[in-house]
This record gives sequence, structure tokens and C-alpha cells, in this order.
Amino acid sequence: MTTIATGERIHVLGICGSLRAGSYNRGLLRAAQEMAREHGIDVEIYERLRDIPPYDQDQDTDETRPEPVRHLKDAISGAAGLVIATPEYNYGVPGVLKNAFDWASRPAHTSPIYRKPVVVMGASTGMSGTIRAQLAWRQSFLFNDMLTLQQPEVLIPRCADRFDANGNLVDQSTRDLVGKQMAAFAAWVRRANAASEIGAI
Ligand code: FNR
Repeated sequence: MTTIATGERIHVLGICGSLRAGSYNRGLLRAAQEMAREHGIDVEIYERLRDIPPYDQDQDTDETRPEPVRHLKDAISGAAGLVIATPEYNYGVPGVLKNAFDWASRPAHTSPIYRKPVVVMGASTGMSGTIRAQLAWRQSFLFNDMLTLQQPEVLIPRCADRFDANGNLVDQSTRDLVGKQMAAFAAWVRRANAASEIGAI
């Protein structure tokens, strides 16, 4: 775990599971980035998800691991936490992001995501607001013993009306919820870091 001094700003990595140019989930992540600043968190949005090749265990060695995968793993290692903005596809997680997550999850127990603080949020045009995708993510977090922030949940149903034509989140109640989650995540990351410092986790 990266060390955070008292009062130091926290650097976390935000990954959006949609590659779509006008993605609502990327807009949600941008809003999180904006709201997180006042809570001492700087969210770097990961831009190279598209470059990650399909997971292949034969390629997953120090000699053969593809450069985009090494880049992703380094970015996660250098971050104190992960913010995942997920679409829901077919009642599940988006394949492109699950694929990247699978690369990042190896080797088990020493991977960059192992015991990493994480929070998930999601927006969908449907009624469920990505609830099934988020539950599926939580299972994958569990396998990696990730330090998942449980509450508040950010599940945004029927999301289209909450964003403007540029894909920016404009609905105030949704922005407030995202702000609450970022405030909770800031406290969560600091607590996880302090616990790690004294060997409690
Ligand atoms: C969807 N969508 C969708 N919505 C939902 O609430 N539950 C679902 O299971 C699915 N399944 C699904 C599958 C596929 C392949 C696509 C392309 C879409 C609709 C989805 O919520 C909508 O397209 C969002 O706009 C996707 O998120 P981004 O790209 O705007 O971030």
C-alpha cells in the first residue's frame, strides 16, 4: 500500500468501463474527479483501457507481458485506491474492464489490486442503475481481498436526463450523492492506509 502522510493529498486511479465517446459513466467519473478535490483526493482518469489485449495466461509472464498491461499495473500500483465507473452490460460487468481487471489481478496475493481500497459507481439508461454489475464487481473485489467501500452506493438509473449534451453530470442530487461517496472514500483510503502502517491489515 502507498504511504499517505497526514494532510497529504491522495492520488487514486479512476477507470471507466465504457469506451463510448459520450459515455455517461465517463461523465460520472469526471464528476467524481471534480467533487473529490475538496476532500483531498486527486483522481487520475485512466485513458488506455482500449489498448489492453485479451487476457492470455501464456502471455502473463515477466518476459512476455504486453506493454499496455505493464502500464496499467504500474498506474494501479502508484495509486492509493481505485474508483471504478461501470456500465452494466447484459446484467453483468463490461467485458473490456473485466479483462483489464483480470490482468491486474495476477499474481494472486501480490498483484497491484490485492487489498487495494476500491469504490464502484455506475450509471445506466435502464431502471436498475447498474445494481447487478456492481454486485458482480463486488464478488471480484472479494476474491482479491480488496478494501471495498460499501456505502454510500452510487447507482444511477435512467441516467440520460441527468447529463448535458457534452456528457457532463448536471443533475444536482446526483452530484451531491457522488460528492458524499468521494468524501467517504477519502476517509476510507486514509483509514486503510493508517491500518496498513501499523500492520493491522
Ligand atoms: C446495455 N445497457 C444495459 N442497461 C442496463 O441497465 N442493464 C443492462 O443489462 C444493459 N445491458 C446492455 C448491454 C449492452 C451490450 C449495451 C451496449 C448496453 C444499456 C446501458 O445502460 C447504456 O448503453 C449506457 O449508456 C452504457 O453506459 P455508457 O457507455 O453510457 O457509460
